[in-house]
Amino acid sequence: MSTRKALDILRTITIGGKDIVSAGFLGSISVEGDKAEVVLLLPESFKGQAESLKTAVEKRLIEAGFKPDVRYRIRESKPSLRVNVGPVGQMKKKIPGVKRVLAVASGKGGVGKSTVAVNLAVALAKKGLKSGLFDADVYGPSVSVLMGLDGERVYVTPEKRFKPIEKYGIEVMTFGVLVKEDTPILWRGAMLHKAYEELLMQTAWGDLDVLVVDLPPGTGDSHLSLAQGYQVDGAVVVTTPQIVAVADVLRAVKGFNKLEVPVLGIVENMAYFVCPESGKRYYIFGEGGTERLSRLTGLPVLVRVPIDEYVSTSGDSGVPVTHAYPESPSAKAFFELAETLKRSLFSAL
Ligand SMILES: Nc1ncnc2c1ncn2[C@@H]1O[C@H](COP(=O)(O)OP(=O)(O)OP(=O)(O)O)[C@@H](O)[C@H]1O
Ligand SMILES: [Mg+2]
Repeated sequence: MSTRKALDILRTITIGGKDIVSAGFLGSISVEGDKAEVVLLLPESFKGQAESLKTAVEKRLIEAGFKPDVRYRIRESKPSLRVNVGPVGQMKKKIPGVKRVLAVASGKGGVGKSTVAVNLAVALAKKGLKSGLFDADVYGPSVSVLMGLDGERVYVTPEKRFKPIEKYGIEVMTFGVLVKEDTPILWRGAMLHKAYEELLMQTAWGDLDVLVVDLPPGTGDSHLSLAQGYQVDGAVVVTTPQIVAVADVLRAVKGFNKLEVPVLGIVENMAYFVCPESGKRYYIFGEGGTERLSRLTGLPVLVRVPIDEYVSTSGDSGVPVTHAYPESPSAKAFFELAETLKRSLFSAL
């Protein structure tokens, strides 16, 4: 039994003169063994036919030997161009062994995105979720350094899948452990897409509640292939308070909107520095940029992570601050973020 076979069956069902796959009525499909999970996504105008369509899909799948679980959702008449638009309207592949996928993105490099992704994954695990981390940054995978994966090897399971590395209570997979540091990475376009697919889908994730994905900076290939082709349940954008970062982040938010990935909010990193002697806060990178971004996008600021020397020293030594110094100001901010995201990701459905 394959997804292709199930898709072929769905293509034989027509509504309004078009088959339901080409008409864009298929929200998602996932086939495991003989079980076929199908979610239909119907425009409001087809609401009256939803039940009969569901029955027809079930019937055809049963005839072909599947055990179907068919559901449907009615799509709002006009998806708003604002953020938080809700369920994804395109067919996306589910990542095997993962319940929720959370993308960490930013339009700009060097704002601490990988640091946020790593610490968020660790913090979510410490909050009791089975958590994983996928480093989607093919060009500069830094998760290996931040997680201290130097010297780790990736094993292949008897089913020919990559076994994720387990460290600090989470499962991790990164191109960094497959590609040696001095190997130039020249993947482009189709190759890159293929590399993703292989690594993301072929990793034997062990029943994760949440998989945090560290996206590369920008709104290029990797964002698109991930958010377009795969299940992404939510994204957070990381920024620093400089006004100059606003435009880049705004572009990333718009990119997600276009792909109907719900953006859950903004993480302001390196927000301020607390003087250890006086306890006074210094806004080294200025103030106001993130508020402006929040106003422009309608997105909440989920947390402000201070500039904290524990972040950089623990990052450099390969132990995330949430593990090494859970009482430090930055770690507390990451735990707060994990709590908020845990609620949004698991109350939505
Ligand atoms: N809150 C913080 N306090 C102090 N240092 C920080 C903080 N956040 C990140 N850093 C440091 O800033 C540097 C860049 O962080 P990181 O690699 O996470 O950024 P990035 O956005 O993922 O970069 P890239 O665009 O290259 O992927 C690292 O050296 C990291 O230790
Ligand atoms: Mg990074």
